[in-house]
Amino acid sequence: MAKRVALVTGGMGGLGTAICRALHDAGFVVAANCLPNFAPAAEWVAKNKAEGYEFHVAEADVSDYDACKAMVAKLEAALGPVDVLVNNAGITRDGMFRKMEKSQWDAVLSTNLDSVFNVTHQILPGMAERGWGRVINISSVNGVKGQFGQANYAAAKAGILGFTKSIAAEVAKKGVTVNAIAPGYIGTDMVMAIKQEVRDSIIATIPVGRLGKPEEIGALCAYLASDLAGYMTGATLNINGGLHFC
Ligand code: CAA
Ligand code: NAP
Repeated sequence: MAKRVALVTGGMGGLGTAICRALHDAGFVVAANCLPNFAPAAEWVAKNKAEGYEFHVAEADVSDYDACKAMVAKLEAALGPVDVLVNNAGITRDGMFRKMEKSQWDAVLSTNLDSVFNVTHQILPGMAERGWGRVINISSVNGVKGQFGQANYAAAKAGILGFTKSIAAEVAKKGVTVNAIAPGYIGTDMVMAIKQEVRDSIIATIPVGRLGKPEEIGALCAYLASDLAGYMTGATLNINGGLHFC
């Protein structure tokens, strides 16, 4: 059987890189999405290649529907249909609600939530027609529990959970699973951008006493992408060091 193809949005970021690597280790042909003309892309590809990881690049701003359509058409023409989609691209624009600008709301909702529609819409019908597929949406512990200073981000990440359950119901009979992962605080640039004293106070509340590792999220993605995960759909997988029990 030909190798299955996986697409990871925001695939060159902290979690994205670990997810690409875990899927590559699991035997998938992996394409990493990044913004158009992303300068470090070539270096990222070369560094991974030197470490035994052969990745393809799929450029598009995932907040732009037409760009996603063009990206998926180009990718599928080159590699064949996408069997596994990881909707991972995301940003933060934190601030207390009373100080939050409309632009902060719009940027986070379009990048973190509209993007999930934009990319999934290109790929899910083909998965259902072929009778196999995996969609994995990266939500957040803060979409599950809410977070001071993150009305925009928590709304987008909670929206992903409703989207996940709805789409899961629509394709359950077609061999396609749709699940969400809700990571806690993982040691990537996104978390390192929080002011140190605020970050330290958050880490102090995590029962396991540390930030999560990107590889811990990658391993969960590899499981969800596997044949053996065929009975899990519409789920929210909480992986947060005990920060929030659901
Ligand atoms: N609960 C209650 N009060 C809080 C609070 C909290 N969690 N956090 C801050 N406050 C209080 C402060 O004590 C302060 O009170 P005083 O005015 O009485 O001193 C007041 O709110 C203002 O706090 P700041 O000085 O921090 O305000 P700021 O405007 O400089 O910054 C903020 C606001 C940007 C939201 C900052 O608090 C912050 O960065 N918070 C962390 C938000 C966060 O968790 N982001 C996660 C990013 S990573 C990510 O999103 C990945 C993921 O999915 C997990
Ligand atoms: P990261 O290192 O900043 O990675 C995010 C990636 O998304 C970057 O590669 C970024 O590209 C890309 N991206 C942003 N906007 C995009 C767009 N419009 N089109 C295409 N790509 C875009 O952060 P991360 O921690 O790996 O986060 C990955 C995902 O996990 C996000 O959805 C985040 O919300 C979620 N998450 C993270 C944590 C955590 O603690 N780290 C916890 C829960 C959930 P550029 O670098 O070029 O902007």
